Amino acid sequence: MCGIFGCILKEENAAPVIHAALKRLEYRGYDSVGEATLHNGQLFIKKDQGKIDEVHKIHNLDDLPGNIGIGHTRWATHGAPLQVNAHPHVDCTGQIAVVHNGIIENFAELKQELENRGHEFKSKTDTEVIAHLIERALEANPSLGLADAVLDTVKKLEGSYAIAVISAKEPDKVVCARHESPLVVGVNENAVYFASDLPAVLPLTNKAVIVDDGELVILTLGQYQIKKIADSSLVSREPKLIDWAPEMAVKQGYPHFMLKEIHEQPECLRNTLRLQEHYLDLMATFLDRAREVYLVACGTSYHACLAASYMLSKLAFLPTYPVIASEFIEQHGKSVNIDSTILAVSQSGETTDTLASVQVARQRAATVLGLTNAIGSTLTRVSRVYIGQQSGPEIGVAATKTFTSQLSVMAQVALRLAKKRGKVSQDEMDYLAERLNKMPDTVDTIVRTQEEKMKQVAKKYKDAKIFFFLGRGISTATAYEGRLKLMEIAYVPAIAFPAGESKHGPISLVEPGFPVVFVCPKDETRKTLIGNIMEMKARGASIIAVMEEGDEEIKRLADDYVEVPKGIPDVLSPISYVIPLQLFAYYMAVERGFNPDTPRNLAKSVTVK
Ligand code: F6R
Repeated sequence: MCGIFGCILKEENAAPVIHAALKRLEYRGYDSVGEATLHNGQLFIKKDQGKIDEVHKIHNLDDLPGNIGIGHTRWATHGAPLQVNAHPHVDCTGQIAVVHNGIIENFAELKQELENRGHEFKSKTDTEVIAHLIERALEANPSLGLADAVLDTVKKLEGSYAIAVISAKEPDKVVCARHESPLVVGVNENAVYFASDLPAVLPLTNKAVIVDDGELVILTLGQYQIKKIADSSLVSREPKLIDWAPEMAVKQGYPHFMLKEIHEQPECLRNTLRLQEHYLDLMATFLDRAREVYLVACGTSYHACLAASYMLSKLAFLPTYPVIASEFIEQHGKSVNIDSTILAVSQSGETTDTLASVQVARQRAATVLGLTNAIGSTLTRVSRVYIGQQSGPEIGVAATKTFTSQLSVMAQVALRLAKKRGKVSQDEMDYLAERLNKMPDTVDTIVRTQEEKMKQVAKKYKDAKIFFFLGRGISTATAYEGRLKLMEIAYVPAIAFPAGESKHGPISLVEPGFPVVFVCPKDETRKTLIGNIMEMKARGASIIAVMEEGDEEIKRLADDYVEVPKGIPDVLSPISYVIPLQLFAYYMAVERGFNPDTPRNLAKSVTVK
């Protein structure tokens, strides 16, 4: 996730307006920033790595000349957060500048073709190919205008994008286009603007046009023209009056970032499915060679590791040790060695205990692999191979979208490894890949259909003093995560453990009305799990089940239930079964009068200010 903004102004210089708008988009990405403007037929650019204020201090982002320009605030996906990878990117002639939010899946092939034709690339980004493709389109057909060259170019792109392009040869316009990344246009009598999100535009105008997927927009002073990319036909769309307060706009109308991020999960999962195969393969190769594998992380990321250990074992027959990072040095610090591989999982890439484990592992010559959401973080610098999970910044302190993305990445790695090892039949592989590809839609269905139900369940149980969260098999990880979410934002004590453990002690706590949340996918553990539900029921517990749609047996046993679509393979089930639990924690916090975005005593390792 990145933020883009640009404008054409009647009288003022564009640069300070772009700078201020990028500050309002900083929640979309904050590792690099850049602006490009046009003046007297010349292109001017300033860009660098770092937060906007840091870059402005060094380069003064406000003194670029001209009343037309584009800007970008970055959350790295392809290429580290370095000046050379910061947007805008230019073509070989230095006349065309592009900013982009999204992921171009086929950039490597396009880059290769362009390099074969003599184009020289400076960055490691996927975006730079766009500038060169536009240059190429204009070279091949000099009578094309910029808008047609952009049209020609976007038809070659696979993946997601919201782009904006300016050219020194047509200094009166900005050409934008979108596919699966947000884009809005704002207008008033003195200017026309575009941005990734409304918050960037709202202080400037409340008249906005939402650009749809598959549309291209040509902005000129005071005007905008929308065309369909498929057939160049014109689209007529009047601006709407937006009456959101700026604070509401940043949250896209949601009352809290946490709820916004729960709803963003389908989009995040689509992005993880766009990971470059090369990195997944590399990670699978390292795991394949490893003698012993530790999956090391804290909090939610540890729960992703726990689920990943089931995936790797069941699909690729690879045994792994999931370890809580704060225990790693005591538990394994002396035994880890040159034959050990540590896969460290950290959303921020900066969590102290995780990095301390990695440091010890490195000192003992172990191989360190990383999975993180923050490219450029310490974890990416110390890992032999890392995967950036491409979830965009997570502003809510409680991890939600980054958890399901981590699970999706690990499922993809496990599938690669299974293929490499010949452990899964082609039919099963195809089936699992198909279900994983459908997961964004599955998650979308759960959020749409179960949110209201979870809200009601939270209302009913809001005064409960304690909860159990139970699951078996891979659902143990889901239960742990549901319990952590509830505790950290709604401040309700909760205990989670594999359901099979209940009779070895915990069940003695249960008395009539004691709420027990069961994670019940229809997998191999189901029969024994039903036994555990009955044990709890016999002692008067109130059963809240997260179950498969239409599972009548569980329905009969449960006091309350939420349903997840049918046919989700067990190894993928945490991605979908955790969604109702995130919603439960969110609504419990709201019902109990707490702000889920600011849990006490907690802070994100990387925060946006
Ligand atoms: C829970 C949460 C924390 C983090 C933990 C690890 O919602 O956000 O438990 O999961 O602090 O953080 P990362 O993944 O950044 O290492």
